[in-house]
Amino acid sequence: MKFFVDTAEISEIRELLPLGVVDGVTTNPSLIMKSGRDFREVVAEICELVDGPVSAEVTALEAAKMVEEGKSLAKIANNVTVKLPLTVDGLIACKALSSEGIDTNVTLCFSANQALLAAKAGATFISPFIGRLDDINIDGMDLIREIRMIYDNYDFRTEILAASIRSPNHVKDSAIAGADVATVPPKVLTSLAKHPLTDKGLEAFMADWEKTGQKII
Ligand code: E4P
Repeated sequence: MKFFVDTAEISEIRELLPLGVVDGVTTNPSLIMKSGRDFREVVAEICELVDGPVSAEVTALEAAKMVEEGKSLAKIANNVTVKLPLTVDGLIACKALSSEGIDTNVTLCFSANQALLAAKAGATFISPFIGRLDDINIDGMDLIREIRMIYDNYDFRTEILAASIRSPNHVKDSAIAGADVATVPPKVLTSLAKHPLTDKGLEAFMADWEKTGQKII
């Protein structure tokens, strides 16, 4: 499973890079707003830092304009993935951009039928929003399972990018359900390494080692 980092904060990405688990980055207009940075500038900086796909979202609502924005964003760097909303216009733009070899991430997916349409439109990634479904008492993980089954039935190449991840369990359950990628907020990503028994065990080993009076080097 690949991990993307769900952030537009350069410092957060830099901190995570040494872990060796960052396969890409996703941004959205809200994350850009939070960063307080210029959109194109921050996307260019992330693209230089990270080898993998970096999602940058269009803000037009009409297909032709989305295509224009998408082409312009794709020129920032060759690892830009154009993020498009799952609307009829977004799907039209997805078809047009993917036909020209531009990578796309169709976002704000909340149903299996929406995911089926995105795959038929040639999307590189589909982003089902798990957390936002959980927020309204619909099990987001069911959606990942449904999409996995449909894509496997028809051998669609579109990758399932589990989004709106809020907890370590979301990451684990997405992996079990067969998502290709999870885009994870930095805090959740680092918390995956933590376990209280690891901390307790390490504390005991260190205390016993201290008693030996030895040094390794
Ligand atoms: C990523 O592509 C999405 O924009 C993001 O995961 C949304 O997360 P949220 O529902 O926590 O805002």
